Amino acid sequence: MNILITGANRGIGLEMVRYSMEQGWRVFACCRNPHNAENLFNIAKLSNGQISVHIADMLELATLQALSYELRNDAIDILVNNAGIYGSDKNRFGSVDADSWLQAFQINSIAPLKMVEAFSEQLFMGKRKTVACMSSKMGSMADNGYGNSYIYRSSKAALNAVVKSLSIDLKEQGIITVALHPGWVKTDMGGTNAEISTRECVVQLFANLTHLTIEDSGRFIDIDGSDILW
Ligand SMILES: NC(=O)c1ccc[n+]([C@@H]2O[C@H](COP(=O)([O-])OP(=O)(O)OC[C@H]3O[C@@H](n4cnc5c(N)ncnc54)[C@H](OP(=O)(O)O)[C@@H]3O)[C@@H](O)[C@H]2O)c1
Repeated sequence: MNILITGANRGIGLEMVRYSMEQGWRVFACCRNPHNAENLFNIAKLSNGQISVHIADMLELATLQALSYELRNDAIDILVNNAGIYGSDKNRFGSVDADSWLQAFQINSIAPLKMVEAFSEQLFMGKRKTVACMSSKMGSMADNGYGNSYIYRSSKAALNAVVKSLSIDLKEQGIITVALHPGWVKTDMGGTNAEISTRECVVQLFANLTHLTIEDSGRFIDIDGSDILW
């Protein structure tokens, strides 16, 4: 199986690379800055070519096009739009930073769609034809009981809207598109007080991902496999 993962140099993305390697999958591991990807390169070096490292910067859409061209002959079974940011701490009522908000939209909402546009041919060539977008419960209207976090919440809500439209637009071609909540995970973003390790997260994520059928397309899936209300 061939899998492409964005934001693969740390956190959940890096653990996905490790897990995929253990499964014997071919991994296209993407990062925005090779100088910030030492751990990823160390894993790739030991993989006998099973893992290749590529540049894909969600703020530089030309890099996505360039990567698509580089991989034009490679089928992709699962494309994981994992790269994401929380955005500025200035995200509370009265102090929301507009520039940071725009950047979060670019990375969290626009780039995932641009990835699918860029890699649609490779996905058609793949067997699983699955697009997994790392969303968050914080993008759910129904789950918002605390307010604030305007930047992160709205950019993940926009991602959810992208997922829903993709699930409709690409259904005839057999492409499955889902939004995933990975749980509250111990990473730079999730912090040390988070509930689960990256390993626990990734094992469960792939258990969910590898059982999807076209009937699941358009779902917003919690880490336990249940549906999250939009
Ligand atoms: N951790 C949680 O509890 C949690 C909960 C819900 C959802 N999520 C979502 O899960 C995903 C992974 O989160 P994480 O906890 O692993 O976060 P993380 O540890 O902060 O890692 C974020 C990853 O995204 C990459 N990234 C950021 N900006 C990028 C850009 N412009 N282009 C390409 N890559 C970029 C980072 O690369 P650099 O190293 O170059 O910055 C890094 O690899 C995110 O989408 C996040 O929103 C996480």
